[in-house]
Amino acid sequence: MPTISKIEKNSSYLKVIWNDGEESKFNYMWLRDNCPSAHDKDSRHRMFNILEVSQDINPKNYNINKEGKLEIEWSEGDHISYFDQKWLRDNCYTIKNNKKYVSPYQLWDCSLEKDLQSIKIDHDEIISSDEGLIKWLKLLHYKGIAIVKNAPTEKKSAFPVLNRISHTRETFFKTPFEVINIPKPNNSAYTAHALRNHMDLPWFELPPGYQFLHCLVNDSEGGNSSAIDGFAVAEYLRKNEKEIFETLTSIPLKFRDKDYTQESHRSFHAPAISLTKDKDFHDIRFSVATMDALDCHPDVMDKVYKAHHRFGNLLHDKKFQINFRLEPGDIFSFNNRRILHGRTEFDPNSGHRHLQGYYMDRDEIIGRLNYLKK
Ligand code: OGA
Ligand code: ZN
Repeated sequence: MPTISKIEKNSSYLKVIWNDGEESKFNYMWLRDNCPSAHDKDSRHRMFNILEVSQDINPKNYNINKEGKLEIEWSEGDHISYFDQKWLRDNCYTIKNNKKYVSPYQLWDCSLEKDLQSIKIDHDEIISSDEGLIKWLKLLHYKGIAIVKNAPTEKKSAFPVLNRISHTRETFFKTPFEVINIPKPNNSAYTAHALRNHMDLPWFELPPGYQFLHCLVNDSEGGNSSAIDGFAVAEYLRKNEKEIFETLTSIPLKFRDKDYTQESHRSFHAPAISLTKDKDFHDIRFSVATMDALDCHPDVMDKVYKAHHRFGNLLHDKKFQINFRLEPGDIFSFNNRRILHGRTEFDPNSGHRHLQGYYMDRDEIIGRLNYLKK
């Protein structure tokens, strides 16, 4: 653990030099705001209010005390702060900003089909061990896809394994939703038709982060599954087709739902690809079935349609897509805002087919993984 070897006072920050040669700048307002006494012990919420000190607050005195803490006596508020050196180092925003961002995502293409074993995990392993649960969560977060094997095949029986992560996300489709061929379907998933690669519910402000399709029966001819890594396709465009990438990340499309069972018309504008603060991929919005009549400016409509057309074709390209067949007891689990999924047409007269679907927010997956890794 590096320790502080030198401190210099500047106009708005303390410059700290560590014994391993690293340098940190700690802004005065930042230090005062993060005084260890600022937070309530139980709620862990900040009780101290930075708005009650002036913007000129600065250290009147500072030193490394006998316990090895950085002790700061403030110019106002009659307050002394004691900072752990390890905490300062771990939370140093200077060092964090000097490091190159490393994406957690492991992008994949059609070659994953030969290695499907690598994304499979046994149901009972998740139920009975945290190692199993962590393995599932890592697949979901890093690869965006996993297939849970040997789950029970009773209705609603995916709840116990899903609840190892957290609660599910409710929608008007109910939990679980029944993916079954029904008369007068309110969604094309509830037919025997093929479903092109798509995400679910892109017309929500926040579409479900993850989706879990639990296969109970799959005895019909057809009804094979497909999946494609939308982030891998987006990365291909970022590298090779810059103008298309720029259009897809900057111009909002429009999605809408006009479900006849609903007394509601839900719709939302968002670009096809959105990025994080580190310019990593945040999410993909793509669904031929529920894209609305676009209302972009006439000067850009042509390039928007051409970019959408190119992206959509790549999202069905055999270089990127994997194909597989779900077996009873499989739970096809994936990041709904990264992985596009589809199925081939099936013949309902040849046998029965029944999946039950569940959604979960992405916060639940990442939050649980962060917690269990510690
Ligand atoms: C869905 C869906 C796939 C399938 O219900 O959203 O895409 O294999 N189903 O039926
Ligand atoms: Zn779907």
